Amino acid sequence: MLPANFLWGASLSAHQTEGAATEDGKSQSVQDVRQRNPKIADFSVAADHYHRYAEDINLLAKAGIKALRISIPWTRIIPDGLGAVNPLAIKHYHHVFNEMHNQGIEPMVTTYHFDLPQVLQEQGGWIKQSTVTAYEKYVKVLFKEFGSEVKYWLTINEPNVMLLADRKILGFSYTHQERYQAFYNLMIAEKKAFQACHQLCPQAQIGPVPNISYVYPGSAKPQDIRAAEYFNAIRNWAYLDFSVRGIINPIFQNYLHQTGIDLKIKAEDEELVQQNFPDFLGMNYYTSVTVEYPKAGQNRTSGVSDQQSEDVYEKGFYKGLTNPYLSKNDFNWTVDPLGLQTTLEVVNDRYHLPIYITENGLGAYDELTADYQVHDDYRINYLSAHLQSIQQAVDAGVPVQGYLPWSAIDLVSVHEGMKKRYGLIYVDRTEQDLKTLARYPKDSYFWYQQVIKNNGVNK
Ligand code: BG6
Repeated sequence: MLPANFLWGASLSAHQTEGAATEDGKSQSVQDVRQRNPKIADFSVAADHYHRYAEDINLLAKAGIKALRISIPWTRIIPDGLGAVNPLAIKHYHHVFNEMHNQGIEPMVTTYHFDLPQVLQEQGGWIKQSTVTAYEKYVKVLFKEFGSEVKYWLTINEPNVMLLADRKILGFSYTHQERYQAFYNLMIAEKKAFQACHQLCPQAQIGPVPNISYVYPGSAKPQDIRAAEYFNAIRNWAYLDFSVRGIINPIFQNYLHQTGIDLKIKAEDEELVQQNFPDFLGMNYYTSVTVEYPKAGQNRTSGVSDQQSEDVYEKGFYKGLTNPYLSKNDFNWTVDPLGLQTTLEVVNDRYHLPIYITENGLGAYDELTADYQVHDDYRINYLSAHLQSIQQAVDAGVPVQGYLPWSAIDLVSVHEGMKKRYGLIYVDRTEQDLKTLARYPKDSYFWYQQVIKNNGVNK
């Protein structure tokens, strides 16, 4: 049984939905400038949510949604990354939150979703301490301006995915040394956000929002078990251990040591790290991951497009592989609803904090029929199976307090553009043709409306 006050919601990010890429003083983010395959949509119009937010919020309210996760772009609030605050952006988000509250929807706000101001990237981005200082200033602006309107804050979306898949997501690569320099800076930035949020908005709650996927060993071979332990530490626990326990995960530390990195919490950061913790965990989940110990001469699996699980490799440590017991979606991503229950139980066992599922969803090719319907039974099946898994975890004592699937409306997929749709609501545009941008609720929208009404899938 899900708790009576379970937070039924849906999720979005700014750069994938808003568009208005150069309007109202917004500067470019790393997402606006990254090289994209010319056949896939860019973010300049996206789903035009910047102009159509009221319509979208209205439709979501009609589905019974109680919380909407959005992100605020740093490039709108402080266009040069560090200096003056842009009043037009402040005004815009006051309107957005006002609209949500009028419709009975609680905002859940991510301060940063992959969209670093390009101007800061050019100065070194997350490998520079100056970016941490700039981020602290930026989030303080958010907390001061919107602290009375937003009860739920999320820090930095998926720093783990950002660092492990940097080239695909950010358009550039870190060296090994830089990656873990950036890891440290991101973790310190997050701690500063916890601190500032608790100081400036004591009524609000804040949590991290990593992408957590439990890592399975490919076999019972002890080397494969170790490969899974390493990748669990590198992909999952390093981030949450720093946030929640204030430590560098020991298996991660061992891996870093073997690869020539000596990562320690700096003396001047000790107090910050040990005294500032999250109120809850946000967690994005799409799939589990299966790895083995890489065999001699073996390399990355070629031709695999599953960036969330299979396309992972590090010589001497782990290599992603196809789990023969699991099916895949249209975009080659492994589907594992039971893995969500396992992941939730392990996360609960480690951290004992309330959990909100802040992303979970199915990217698929959808078809709008001549009478403007989308029969996405495959998405209903995916969401339903994952929700049942959440219900099992809750029955087993895991404090999951909300579900905010990805995504509320169709948006531009990070890796695949517009053709890979996630929304409960269809947006009428294609990769290159902006068409009408009109909104059409899909079958999954009506199904979700019913789920919310019943407070679960089983009734
Ligand atoms: C998550 C991101 O990792 O994966 C989202 O937070 C993203 O921004 C989602 O859209 C799915 O990835 P993709 O590449 O299918 O858009």
